[in-house]
Amino acid sequence: MSRIAYVNGRFLPHNSSAIHIEDRAMQFGDGVYEVIAVVGGKLIDVELHYDRLARSLRELNMEMQIPRVALHLTVQEVVRRNRIGEGICYLQITRGSAPRNHAFPSDPRHSVVVTARRSQPASGRVGRLGVYVITTADLRWQRRDIKSVSLLPNVLAKQNAAETGAFEAWLVDKNGAVTEGSHSNAWIVNRDGTVITHQEDVDILSGVTRRRILEIARTDGMEVVEREFTVGEAKDAQEAFLTSTSSFVVPVTRIDDTVIADGCPGSVTKRLRCLYLEAIKQPSFVSV
Ligand code: PDD
Repeated sequence: MSRIAYVNGRFLPHNSSAIHIEDRAMQFGDGVYEVIAVVGGKLIDVELHYDRLARSLRELNMEMQIPRVALHLTVQEVVRRNRIGEGICYLQITRGSAPRNHAFPSDPRHSVVVTARRSQPASGRVGRLGVYVITTADLRWQRRDIKSVSLLPNVLAKQNAAETGAFEAWLVDKNGAVTEGSHSNAWIVNRDGTVITHQEDVDILSGVTRRRILEIARTDGMEVVEREFTVGEAKDAQEAFLTSTSSFVVPVTRIDDTVIADGCPGSVTKRLRCLYLEAIKQPSFVSV
């Protein structure tokens, strides 16, 4: 079955869909995006993704030009036309096309692109067995809370990881603290059983999955702290894991050359993964 993409008001064959050569995303990375999970044909936590999209746009002085209802109908239609049971939907809004000039165009017409593809994060082998991550310098700008399409430092970090056979790169700031992964949030469980992840601020993307895992962990009675942790602390942790829309909850069993605890996914991580997979079946997570 050939894939269908939505581009600026039209549903087009994926292979022949295109945006303008002077789109500002291409010349300046001037746009934002969201990745939304699809499970059983339903979009997971779609409202939280739209909220974050609206916030990212606001932070870049790009008020939403498409009403949320219309955007949602489009997203649903892309999922439907591509017959996605399990997969992800990608949504991108850029400041549109204009003759190249760093300053904003005076009357921008945003470009909107929506695509979807099949994938199986929930039942993934990595989710059950755990993964290896490397650490690398966090080279990004100072507004990582904006989900911008300017992803070059993330791309370079992930490439570093890929070249060493790692699943993800954990990004480390000048003080030796782990901020997050190149495309996921980073977590550890220390030897007291406390679940730790970086606080929500401009240094990280506030993950939708991160937010849900915080809720789930607290509801389950776990001790949870939002604070920075160092690479040393992570390597000495009882457990480590990462979270994202595309992989849900994935145990981290090795960081660089250090095997975490006994090298197997930890019990807290396994429980959170299990609770999350149950939770996303609940009506409060699923869009109609
Ligand atoms: N990445 N941190 C970064 C830098 C990310 O790019 C992502 C998501 C996350 C996790 O956020 P969420 O739980 O809302 O997916 C954290 C997406 C999946 C991507 O770029 O493919």
